[in-house]
Order: sequence, then C-alpha cells, then structure tokens
Amino acid sequence: MTQVLTPDAQGLTAAADLLRGGALVAFPTETVYGLGGNARSDHAVARIFEAKGRPRFNPLIVHVPDVEAARRFAVFDDRAERVASAFWPGPLTLVLPLRPEAGLSPLVTAGLDSVAVRVPAHPVARALLTAFGGPVAAPSANPSGRVSPTRAQHVIDGLAGRIAAVVDGGACAVGVESTILGLVDGAALLRPGGIPAEALEACLGHPLAAGGDAARPSAPGQLLSHYAPASAVRLGVTAPEPGEFWLGFGPEARAADINLSESGDLVEAAANLFHDLRRADAAAGGRRIAVSPIPETGLGRAINDRLRRAAAPRP
Ligand code: TXA
Ligand code: MG
Repeated sequence: MTQVLTPDAQGLTAAADLLRGGALVAFPTETVYGLGGNARSDHAVARIFEAKGRPRFNPLIVHVPDVEAARRFAVFDDRAERVASAFWPGPLTLVLPLRPEAGLSPLVTAGLDSVAVRVPAHPVARALLTAFGGPVAAPSANPSGRVSPTRAQHVIDGLAGRIAAVVDGGACAVGVESTILGLVDGAALLRPGGIPAEALEACLGHPLAAGGDAARPSAPGQLLSHYAPASAVRLGVTAPEPGEFWLGFGPEARAADINLSESGDLVEAAANLFHDLRRADAAAGGRRIAVSPIPETGLGRAINDRLRRAAAPRP
C-alpha cells in the first residue's frame, strides 16, 4: 500500500525515515511531483527506475536544499554560480561536471561524467530535503512516458502500490518541469521548463545553444514520445473537427471543452497543463484531443515542448 502523508512535521519525519530506509517517497515541488529516493543508495535508485518502468540510460536529477550542498556533487564554474544565485531555489536544473568522489550512486547519472542538480523552491520539498539530510534523486512521479503529476492524486493514479508514500502538498504552482541548462561544454538549453530560456539568456548575457536531439537524447525528456495521454493529440488547432475534444487556449477558444487559460495567460496554462491533459483524456472517451495554438515565448516554449511529445507517434 502507498501511504498518503500530510506535509506537517509528523508526515515529513515519516517521509524522511522512509527515505533513510531505502524506500521511495513522492513529494511536491513547485514544478511537478517528484519520486524521491536516497541518491547515495544503488538499491533505492534502482527501485526508482523499476517503479516508473524507466530506461536505465535516462539519468535522474539530484535534489538538494541549497547551493552549498549542490557544490558537493557538481563542479560550479562562474556561469553556474551566476545562474544558481539568480534562479535557485526554483525551477532550474543545472547539468554540470560530476564530482565522482561525492558518493552518488552511479545509477543516478547513468554512468555519465555529468550530473543534473536542482534546488527546489517548494517549502515541502525543502523541508523534506532538510529532514532527510542527504541528496534525493527524483524524476517526475509518473510511469515513464506518461503525463507528469501535478497533484498527489495523479501520483496515486499512476504509482499506487509501487511506492511507499506520497506527501500531499496540493497542486504544483508552476506545473511544467524545471528548465535544464547544460553547462558542460558551452551553455545549452537541454529542456525548456519553468524558467523561461529568455531569462537565462539575459542572466548569462548570450544566447543558449539548442540542446535537444530527439534521435540522440542528451536529456531524455527529449525522447520524442513522452507525456502521452491515452487519446491521440492534434496540435495548432483553431477550429476542431467534428468528433474531436477541444483543449483550448485563450479567448478565441470560447467554445473549447476545457480551456488551459481563458485569458491567454501562459503561466496559468502551464499550471493547468498536465491536470487538464488528464481531464481531457478522461472526458474524451477515445476521441482525439485537438489543442489550440500556444505562443512560442516564455513558458509557451515548455508547454509546446510537452504538447509536441504528447502528440508524437507512440513507440
Ligand atoms: O521539475 C523537475 O525537473 C522534476 C522535479 C521532480 O524536480 N523532475 C524531473 O525529472 O522532471 P525527470 O527525470 O522527469 O527529468 C529529468 C531530465 C531527464 O530528461 C534526464 O535525461 C535529464 O534530466 N538529465 C538528468 N541527468 C542528466 C545529465 N547528466 N545530462 C543530461 N541530462 C540529464
Ligand atoms: Mg519526467
């Protein structure tokens, strides 16, 4: 059975004890719910891959409470220090050279000599990391390839019985995963996410290289079919065909079955995206989901990235 824990002192103590015992605990972050395990334990990390059905070559993000802890596992250069001080805690993941002596399970990095690190902003995530007192490996808490979870109930829907517990911290405010910035050679946007690429470029003072190559994923969030609902998905639709379920965006989509944001607000649309994809999937009853066009700026880049993968041909 999977326990649902409250985000108070008692629940967090129980969650930290479970992590210490090598068990898996899902917890809220400001982006999506993470599926946490002790990042120093091969056993716990192996369980993460098993619970999600995730390919072992797809490395995990290490979650820590602050930049000092992050420096124990990764090598920070000036650029890394600059973006970390500007955007942490927050929805940014940095891929940096690994400190192999730091004792992370090699399963976390899938044997790479780089490591993805993140300091989340959600108070429950921060309290759990502090209570546990060590690095927590955490992918999104969903079966591999499916829609990411932004509520405790989504975690239960996908992983009940496969994990020890979920800490219920309500709905995630950002709603799409962290932006992944690679700083190993050059500066590359490996995954668009909760921090707009424009903000990173302004902080670094130069444009980012595009890091995604669907054929040879450098961040396997780049695997083409991902975030997939059961229904087929068609994108960029201003006038749905008869029989399609319409997932709209903005005031032009007044007749939509569900609207990601009636006012056309990208922040609101990102926060609603995964919950609304799940609702659309449940309500569509096998019909195709037609999605309104979303502007390709700010959080719209992360939304469109997830939608393109939701619409991609399934393996
Ligand atoms: O917002 C988030 O980032 C959430 C919350 C829970 O923190 N986590 C998340 O994890 O989205 P996951 O496993 O679903 O996505 C992690 C991504 C994957 O695309 C993985 O390939 C990439 O990070 N990644 C991890 N380590 C990497 C590395 N050393 N080099 C390149 N990409 C890496
Ligand atoms: Mg994921």
